[in-house]
Amino acid sequence: PKVIYIDHNDTETEVEVENGANLMQAALDNMVSGILGDCGGDCACATCHVFVDSKWQDEIDAPSELEEDLLDGLIDPQPNSRLSCQIVMEDKLDGIVLRLPESQY
Ligand code: FES
Repeated sequence: PKVIYIDHNDTETEVEVENGANLMQAALDNMVSGILGDCGGDCACATCHVFVDSKWQDEIDAPSELEEDLLDGLIDPQPNSRLSCQIVMEDKLDGIVLRLPESQY
């Protein structure tokens, strides 16, 4: 399945991701800038913040309490904000569009 990352300049990067991989790591592995992933995916840093396109919002499991807390602490949270290390690829997410916040560059 694939992910489409769109940065704050509207530049799209399409990446093929294996099922089971998280979408923070997939961005780092493919040198997509705009995702930092400082904590390595432990849901502790919130530097993997993304805005999930509305079409896929309901397909992703609801955030854990820990993720919610981190999202609340962001400077630019939106209702579709998620931490990409907590999104794990599966077939139903094929084509998911993630927009990357300007603050993360
Ligand atoms: Fe740190 Fe996602 S990589 S919270």
